[in-house]
Amino acid sequence: MPKLRLREAGPALLFMVVLLTLTACGDTVYPNTTFTRFTDLNSSILSLWDRLLFWGTIVFVVVEAALIFTIIRYRKRPGGPEAKQIHGNAILEITWTAIPAIILVLIAVPTVKTIFQTQAPAPAGALKVQVIGHQWWWEFRYPELGIVTANELYVPVGRTVSFELTTKDVLHSFWFPAMGGKRDLITNRTNYMWFTPNADLGTQAWNGFCTEYCGSSHANMRIRLYTVQPDEFESWAKHQASPAVFNPLAPAAPPATPVANASNRRPAVPAVDTAPAQPSTGYVFPIEKLPAHVVPQTPIPAGLDFDDALLAGGDATRGATQGFMLGGCIGCHAINGVPGAVSNIGPNLTHVASRHTIASGLYKFDGPTLARWIKNARHMKPGVIMNTIGRGEYDPGMKMTVTAGLDDRQIADVVAYLMSLK
Ligand code: CUA
Repeated sequence: MPKLRLREAGPALLFMVVLLTLTACGDTVYPNTTFTRFTDLNSSILSLWDRLLFWGTIVFVVVEAALIFTIIRYRKRPGGPEAKQIHGNAILEITWTAIPAIILVLIAVPTVKTIFQTQAPAPAGALKVQVIGHQWWWEFRYPELGIVTANELYVPVGRTVSFELTTKDVLHSFWFPAMGGKRDLITNRTNYMWFTPNADLGTQAWNGFCTEYCGSSHANMRIRLYTVQPDEFESWAKHQASPAVFNPLAPAAPPATPVANASNRRPAVPAVDTAPAQPSTGYVFPIEKLPAHVVPQTPIPAGLDFDDALLAGGDATRGATQGFMLGGCIGCHAINGVPGAVSNIGPNLTHVASRHTIASGLYKFDGPTLARWIKNARHMKPGVIMNTIGRGEYDPGMKMTVTAGLDDRQIADVVAYLMSLK
């Protein structure tokens, strides 16, 4: 093997270093970076990281410089004198023990301080959110606001949000890189985490992930976080807490009685024959403002056909009164206000059409995708608990062809129903 001399290898090494440095530059945006100061949590972690990097760099430079100097200065030369033979050097040994000890203290003190800071209970007045991990989706509950939703989380900027993390099944881990954290969801245990999105963060959308291997669709257990303005949050929360906007299954409400007018007010204007007012759907993160990196790019797997022309004729009422029952959807999905639809095996669908994704952030929320998802979810997301519902479809979980289930027209009705649940 030819000897590689330093003089020959030097330029190549220098070239590699320059190349590596250049590839790290440029205009590339890193939307999932954790090196941010967007929250108090990430800020404190980043400060610690900066400090470690500072001391680490000094140690690296000093040690490498001493090493290179020693290698070159004291290398073996032909005809040179024999090296001095020594045994032990108390001063040197004390020095190289003491200096690392001091450096370790300089690292340990801020580290322990940050650990205590980030593990402390959330400050009073924090917005409470219960995070419940499921294989493979996220349930979010705002107990103080009466909201149950899934996979897409809204938080107001400038207010601390306190997460209570539990799991329905196996271990998961909750992480929004840009916000900080990463905390495990552990069976039979409640973990906590909190952060405050900066008040000047603006209305933005972020990615979140499950970061603890939890089975075949671990990689498909994604989250969207919307940091919104306080008034936007209030509008969203108020609507999310209300029952389903479209509900042909609701128990018949008693006829509205006109409010008696106080004598000092003007007489009531007689009711005009107009269309009923559209129920307010509350604030929803505008779809056109979604940055590309939070929009799902997953293509629908080949071999899952659906007659999209049927979607135009989907009947929401029929979907609610027939398809939702016949398809067995009601057995797993809650829709607030619908009698019997109370299960939380699957995501709560009360306001499912206010979400931008389905299947835990894996696919875009739209009619054609929803139809295929209902038809054969197991073909679209490995291991998913949701049964294959399309009649004649092969269910990869049960390893059999579905003989009951819904045909494409019935699925189109269910899609129309779900799309009306704004
Ligand atoms: Cu849940 Cu990985």
